[in-house]
Order: sequence, then structure tokens, then C-alpha cells
Amino acid sequence: METWDAIRTRRNVRSFDDRPVRDEHLDRIVAAAALAPSSMNEQRWAFVVCRDRERLTELARVGAYTDHVAGAAVAIAFLTPKADDVAERESIAFDLGQAVENAMLAAWELGIGSCHGSVYDEPRIRGLLDYPLEMTCDLVVSFGYPEDPASLAPPGSRGGRRAVGELRHEERFGG
Ligand SMILES: Cc1cc2nc3c(=O)[nH]c(=O)nc-3n(C[C@H](O)[C@H](O)[C@H](O)COP(=O)(O)O)c2cc1C
Repeated sequence: METWDAIRTRRNVRSFDDRPVRDEHLDRIVAAAALAPSSMNEQRWAFVVCRDRERLTELARVGAYTDHVAGAAVAIAFLTPKADDVAERESIAFDLGQAVENAMLAAWELGIGSCHGSVYDEPRIRGLLDYPLEMTCDLVVSFGYPEDPASLAPPGSRGGRRAVGELRHEERFGG
């Protein structure tokens, strides 16, 4: 799949079938996250790969919109260092977003759907994953083969996006 086609067609998938994700595919998804660029190449992240069904069920309870995790083949919890400084926190979040998108696009190329899950109950996910005190987790992403294979080929291009013409300016804002 061309990069452009992955970017153009990827949509979030929230229902998955029962097939496990093959190890080599999972390796590629995690590697894609790890290959993302980061500020000063600091790579302030760690990825906890969860496949145990009971753990996935528990992980589905860490947010208000994380039900999809319970039915996923895999969930990856994206860990970052805690930061008090706002600028540092924003820089970490920016980097993490790139890692997440890399992983989701790499998955899409393999026919694997994914969905973000925002963590609302950090103490709960900390208890489940047992990560060090100086780290935190704001995002879990579920992965799996879509229950509806048609979701891998959404009609037309991605929907629900603002028109590029509305967002693009030439030389100066408004131009
Ligand atoms: C930072 C972030 C947090 C998100 N959190 C959730 C979430 O908790 N649950 C969920 O179902 N989707 C979540 N999403 C997915 C968005 O709802 C989705 O990307 C958006 O609706 C566009 O969907 P599409 O890519 O299928 O067009 C999140 C996305 C981002 C970027």
C-alpha cells in the first residue's frame, strides 16, 4: 500500500473479529511507533503490549470511550514520563502523537484496524500495568482485524474532515 493510500483511507475501527494479530505484524506495528521522530530524538516513550483477554477487558474500563479495547486482539498502552512543566508535557504529547499515528498507519497497511482510547482513570491503568511512578499513560490503542472487512475500504476518501481548501492559505493567513 502506498503511504498516501494509507493516509487517505485509514479510519478508526472499533469492532474486531477473533483473529489474533500475527507476531511479525505486531512487531512491525511496535517498530513503527519506535521509529517515529521526536524532539531532539529523546524518544520519551515505552509501549506495553497487552494480549491477555482479561487484561484487555480491564483496560476497557480505564476511559469513558474505551469499550473497543475489550474486543481487540491487542492493545498497546503508550507510556510517557510525567512532566510538571507545561511546555515539556506538550512536547511529549506531540511526539507521542506521531508514534501513535505511525503505528496505526503501519497496522492499516497490514489490514489491521485500530482505535485510540483516552485514559481517564490513570491510577487504574497504573495498577493494571505496573509501570514506574515517574511514568504515566494517557492513551491506549486497540488493534485487530475489523469485524466488518468493508471498513478497510471505506467508500471514497476519509469522511468527516474539513475541506483542505478551508485550511490551506498561501503565503499568509487569508491568502
Ligand atoms: C488524542 C485522541 C484521543 C481519542 N480518544 C478516543 C477514545 O477515547 N475513544 C474512541 O473511540 N476514539 C478516540 N479517538 C478517535 C477519534 O474519535 C477519531 O480519530 C476521530 O473521530 C476520527 O475518526 P476517523 O479517523 O475514523 O475518521 C481519539 C483520537 C485522538 C487523536
